[in-house]
Amino acid sequence: MPEVVIQAAGVRKNYLSGDRTLEVLQGVDFSVAAGETVSIRGESGSGKSTLLNILAGLDRPDSGELFWGGEAAHKLSLGELTGRRGRFLGMVFQSYYLIPEIDALANVLMSARILGGVGATERARAAALLQRVGLGERGHHLPTHLSGGERQRVAVARALMNRPKLILADEPTGNLDERTGDEVISLLLEVCAEEKTALVLVTHNPSHAKRTSRQLLLQSGRFV
Ligand SMILES: Nc1ncnc2c1ncn2[C@@H]1O[C@H](COP(=O)(O)OP(=O)(O)OP(=O)(O)O)[C@@H](O)[C@H]1O
Ligand SMILES: [Mg+2]
Repeated sequence: MPEVVIQAAGVRKNYLSGDRTLEVLQGVDFSVAAGETVSIRGESGSGKSTLLNILAGLDRPDSGELFWGGEAAHKLSLGELTGRRGRFLGMVFQSYYLIPEIDALANVLMSARILGGVGATERARAAALLQRVGLGERGHHLPTHLSGGERQRVAVARALMNRPKLILADEPTGNLDERTGDEVISLLLEVCAEEKTALVLVTHNPSHAKRTSRQLLLQSGRFV
Protein backbone atom coordinates (compact mmCIF):
# COMPACT_ATOMS: atom_id res chain seq x y z
CA MET A 1 0.00 0.00 0.00
CA PRO A 2 1.34 3.47 -0.82
CA GLU A 3 2.35 5.64 2.10
CA VAL A 4 -0.31 8.22 3.06
CA VAL A 5 1.19 11.70 3.24
CA ILE A 6 -1.78 13.59 4.60
CA GLN A 7 -5.22 12.53 5.70
CA ALA A 8 -8.27 14.42 6.90
CA ALA A 9 -11.34 12.69 8.30
CA GLY A 10 -14.71 14.27 9.05
CA VAL A 11 -13.31 17.80 8.96
CA ARG A 12 -15.89 20.47 9.81
CA LYS A 13 -15.45 24.20 9.90
CA ASN A 14 -18.03 26.92 10.57
CA TYR A 15 -17.59 30.66 10.50
CA LEU A 16 -19.81 33.18 12.23
CA SER A 17 -21.04 35.91 9.93
CA GLY A 18 -23.06 38.38 12.02
CA ASP A 19 -25.75 36.21 13.58
CA ARG A 20 -25.50 33.60 10.84
CA THR A 21 -23.36 30.47 10.92
CA LEU A 22 -21.60 29.65 7.66
CA GLU A 23 -21.14 25.89 7.47
CA VAL A 24 -18.11 25.94 5.19
CA LEU A 25 -16.71 22.41 5.57
CA GLN A 26 -19.28 19.78 6.47
CA GLY A 27 -17.34 16.59 6.95
CA VAL A 28 -14.46 16.48 4.50
CA ASP A 29 -12.66 13.16 4.07
CA PHE A 30 -9.46 13.41 2.11
CA SER A 31 -6.13 11.70 1.78
CA VAL A 32 -3.10 12.00 -0.46
CA ALA A 33 -0.59 9.24 -1.14
CA ALA A 34 3.16 9.82 -1.39
CA GLY A 35 4.05 11.51 -4.65
CA GLU A 36 0.43 11.81 -5.75
CA THR A 37 -0.93 14.96 -7.44
CA VAL A 38 -4.49 16.07 -6.66
CA SER A 39 -6.45 19.09 -7.85
CA ILE A 40 -9.34 20.70 -6.01
CA ARG A 41 -11.91 22.83 -7.77
CA GLY A 42 -15.05 24.45 -6.43
CA GLU A 43 -16.99 27.68 -6.67
CA SER A 44 -15.65 30.80 -5.06
CA GLY A 45 -16.55 30.58 -1.37
CA SER A 46 -16.86 26.77 -1.40
CA GLY A 47 -14.13 26.47 1.22
CA LYS A 48 -11.03 25.52 -0.79
CA SER A 49 -8.71 27.95 0.97
CA THR A 50 -10.30 27.12 4.32
CA LEU A 51 -9.52 23.45 3.71
CA LEU A 52 -5.97 24.12 2.53
CA ASN A 53 -5.28 26.25 5.62
CA ILE A 54 -6.56 23.44 7.83
CA LEU A 55 -4.43 20.87 5.99
CA ALA A 56 -1.44 23.19 6.46
CA GLY A 57 -2.12 23.51 10.18
CA LEU A 58 -2.54 27.28 9.81
CA ASP A 59 -6.13 27.02 10.98
CA ARG A 60 -7.93 24.45 13.10
CA PRO A 61 -11.05 22.49 12.20
CA ASP A 62 -14.03 22.69 14.59
CA SER A 63 -14.02 18.90 14.57
CA GLY A 64 -12.43 16.05 12.67
CA GLU A 65 -9.02 14.51 12.43
CA LEU A 66 -5.89 15.46 10.53
CA PHE A 67 -2.83 13.27 10.10
CA TRP A 68 0.54 14.44 8.80
CA GLY A 69 2.18 11.19 7.85
CA GLY A 70 1.45 9.01 10.85
CA GLU A 71 1.20 11.91 13.28
CA ALA A 72 -2.16 13.07 14.68
CA ALA A 73 -1.84 16.76 13.81
CA HIS A 74 -5.27 17.58 15.28
CA LYS A 75 -3.83 16.78 18.70
CA LEU A 76 -0.99 19.28 18.34
CA SER A 77 -1.14 22.94 19.35
CA LEU A 78 -0.76 25.62 16.68
CA GLY A 79 2.74 26.21 18.06
CA GLU A 80 3.66 22.54 17.69
CA LEU A 81 2.23 22.53 14.17
CA THR A 82 4.35 25.56 13.29
CA GLY A 83 7.42 23.70 14.50
CA ARG A 84 6.71 20.73 12.26
CA ARG A 85 5.21 22.46 9.22
CA GLY A 86 8.49 23.67 7.74
CA ARG A 87 9.80 20.14 7.44
CA PHE A 88 6.58 18.50 6.39
CA LEU A 89 5.06 20.74 3.75
CA GLY A 90 5.62 23.71 1.48
CA MET A 91 3.04 26.24 0.36
CA VAL A 92 2.53 28.28 -2.78
CA PHE A 93 -0.02 31.10 -2.79
CA GLN A 94 -1.74 33.20 -5.44
CA SER A 95 0.06 36.35 -4.20
CA TYR A 96 3.51 34.70 -3.91
CA TYR A 97 4.15 36.10 -0.39
CA LEU A 98 7.85 36.65 -1.00
CA ILE A 99 9.68 38.89 1.44
CA PRO A 100 10.20 42.12 -0.55
CA GLU A 101 13.35 43.32 1.23
CA ILE A 102 15.50 40.26 0.48
CA ASP A 103 16.63 38.79 -2.83
CA ALA A 104 15.31 35.66 -4.54
CA LEU A 105 18.03 33.40 -3.12
CA ALA A 106 17.44 34.66 0.42
CA ASN A 107 13.71 34.07 -0.02
CA VAL A 108 14.36 30.44 -0.98
CA LEU A 109 16.77 30.08 1.94
CA MET A 110 14.16 31.46 4.34
CA SER A 111 12.55 27.99 4.44
CA ALA A 112 15.81 26.55 5.76
CA ARG A 113 16.41 29.47 8.11
CA ILE A 114 13.09 28.77 9.82
CA LEU A 115 14.32 25.26 10.62
CA GLY A 116 17.63 26.47 12.02
CA GLY A 117 20.92 26.67 10.22
CA VAL A 118 21.85 27.89 6.80
CA GLY A 119 25.20 26.50 5.72
CA ALA A 120 26.94 25.56 2.49
CA THR A 121 24.58 22.60 1.89
CA GLU A 122 21.50 24.79 2.14
CA ARG A 123 23.01 27.51 -0.07
CA ALA A 124 23.87 24.95 -2.72
CA ARG A 125 20.39 23.47 -2.58
CA ALA A 126 18.75 26.89 -2.89
CA ALA A 127 20.98 27.85 -5.82
CA ALA A 128 20.26 24.53 -7.56
CA LEU A 129 16.52 25.01 -7.09
CA LEU A 130 16.66 28.53 -8.53
CA GLN A 131 18.58 27.10 -11.48
CA ARG A 132 15.95 24.39 -11.85
CA VAL A 133 13.08 26.88 -11.98
CA GLY A 134 14.95 28.88 -14.63
CA LEU A 135 16.21 31.69 -12.42
CA GLY A 136 19.84 30.71 -11.98
CA GLU A 137 20.98 34.20 -12.98
CA ARG A 138 18.38 36.03 -10.90
CA GLY A 139 19.27 34.93 -7.36
CA HIS A 140 20.34 38.42 -6.34
CA HIS A 141 17.30 40.18 -7.72
CA LEU A 142 14.69 41.55 -5.34
CA PRO A 143 11.13 40.27 -5.84
CA THR A 144 10.09 43.74 -7.13
CA HIS A 145 12.57 43.30 -10.00
CA LEU A 146 10.96 40.01 -11.06
CA SER A 147 7.81 39.43 -13.12
CA GLY A 148 4.79 37.66 -11.60
CA GLY A 149 5.73 34.38 -13.23
CA GLU A 150 9.31 34.69 -12.00
CA ARG A 151 8.13 35.48 -8.47
CA GLN A 152 5.97 32.40 -8.50
CA ARG A 153 8.96 30.33 -9.64
CA VAL A 154 10.88 31.63 -6.62
CA ALA A 155 7.93 30.65 -4.43
CA VAL A 156 8.00 27.14 -5.92
CA ALA A 157 11.73 26.85 -5.17
CA ARG A 158 11.13 28.12 -1.62
CA ALA A 159 8.32 25.57 -1.11
CA LEU A 160 10.66 22.72 -2.17
CA MET A 161 13.71 23.89 -0.23
CA ASN A 162 13.29 21.60 2.79
CA ARG A 163 12.40 18.53 0.70
CA PRO A 164 8.80 18.43 1.97
CA LYS A 165 6.54 15.42 1.47
CA LEU A 166 3.76 17.69 0.24
CA ILE A 167 3.16 21.00 -1.48
CA LEU A 168 -0.14 22.81 -1.01
CA ALA A 169 -0.77 25.35 -3.76
CA ASP A 170 -3.75 27.72 -3.52
CA GLU A 171 -4.55 29.17 -6.96
CA PRO A 172 -0.86 29.59 -7.82
CA THR A 173 -1.72 30.95 -11.28
CA GLY A 174 -4.50 33.28 -10.14
CA ASN A 175 -2.44 36.42 -10.79
CA LEU A 176 -0.74 35.24 -13.98
CA ASP A 177 -1.67 35.46 -17.65
CA GLU A 178 -2.67 32.24 -19.36
CA ARG A 179 0.66 31.34 -20.92
CA THR A 180 2.68 32.15 -17.79
CA GLY A 181 0.15 30.25 -15.68
CA ASP A 182 0.46 27.18 -17.92
CA GLU A 183 4.25 27.36 -17.59
CA VAL A 184 4.11 27.60 -13.80
CA ILE A 185 1.78 24.57 -13.60
CA SER A 186 4.07 22.56 -15.89
CA LEU A 187 7.05 23.49 -13.77
CA LEU A 188 5.24 22.68 -10.51
CA LEU A 189 4.20 19.24 -11.80
CA GLU A 190 7.70 18.51 -13.13
CA VAL A 191 9.59 19.50 -10.00
CA CYS A 192 7.14 17.70 -7.71
CA ALA A 193 7.67 14.53 -9.78
CA GLU A 194 11.46 14.96 -9.68
CA GLU A 195 11.49 15.56 -5.94
CA LYS A 196 8.84 12.88 -5.26
CA THR A 197 6.72 15.48 -3.53
CA ALA A 198 2.93 15.14 -3.45
CA LEU A 199 0.93 18.12 -4.67
CA VAL A 200 -2.50 19.46 -3.78
CA LEU A 201 -3.44 22.12 -6.31
CA VAL A 202 -6.44 24.41 -5.79
CA THR A 203 -7.39 25.92 -9.12
CA HIS A 204 -10.29 27.45 -11.02
CA ASN A 205 -8.67 26.45 -14.32
CA PRO A 206 -10.16 23.17 -15.65
CA SER A 207 -7.20 22.47 -17.94
CA HIS A 208 -4.79 22.80 -14.99
CA ALA A 209 -7.03 20.59 -12.85
CA LYS A 210 -6.96 17.85 -15.49
CA ARG A 211 -3.18 17.63 -15.34
CA THR A 212 -3.11 16.08 -11.86
CA SER A 213 -3.54 12.36 -11.30
CA ARG A 214 -6.78 12.87 -9.31
CA GLN A 215 -9.39 15.61 -9.57
CA LEU A 216 -11.76 16.61 -6.78
CA LEU A 217 -14.68 19.03 -6.62
CA LEU A 218 -15.66 20.75 -3.38
CA GLN A 219 -19.38 21.44 -3.20
CA SER A 220 -21.70 22.18 -0.28
CA GLY A 221 -18.89 21.58 2.17
CA ARG A 222 -17.89 18.15 0.88
CA PHE A 223 -16.06 16.47 -1.96
CA VAL A 224 -18.49 15.20 -4.58
N1 LIG B 1 -12.07 34.10 8.86
C1 LIG B 1 -13.28 34.03 8.32
N2 LIG B 1 -14.36 34.52 8.97
C2 LIG B 1 -15.60 34.43 8.46
N3 LIG B 1 -15.87 33.85 7.27
C3 LIG B 1 -14.85 33.35 6.58
C4 LIG B 1 -13.50 33.40 7.07
N4 LIG B 1 -12.69 32.81 6.15
C5 LIG B 1 -13.50 32.41 5.15
N5 LIG B 1 -14.79 32.72 5.41
C6 LIG B 1 -15.95 32.39 4.55
O1 LIG B 1 -15.93 31.00 4.32
C7 LIG B 1 -16.33 30.70 2.99
C8 LIG B 1 -15.22 29.90 2.30
O2 LIG B 1 -14.09 30.75 2.09
P1 LIG B 1 -12.79 30.25 1.31
O3 LIG B 1 -11.86 31.37 1.30
O4 LIG B 1 -12.34 28.98 1.91
O5 LIG B 1 -13.39 29.97 -0.14
P2 LIG B 1 -12.64 29.56 -1.49
O6 LIG B 1 -13.29 28.31 -1.99
O7 LIG B 1 -11.18 29.51 -1.25
O8 LIG B 1 -13.01 30.76 -2.46
P3 LIG B 1 -12.14 31.43 -3.65
O9 LIG B 1 -12.28 30.51 -4.83
O10 LIG B 1 -12.84 32.74 -3.90
O11 LIG B 1 -10.74 31.60 -3.16
C9 LIG B 1 -16.63 32.04 2.34
O12 LIG B 1 -18.02 32.25 2.41
C10 LIG B 1 -15.89 33.03 3.19
O13 LIG B 1 -16.53 34.28 3.19
MG1 LIG C 1 -9.59 30.61 -1.98
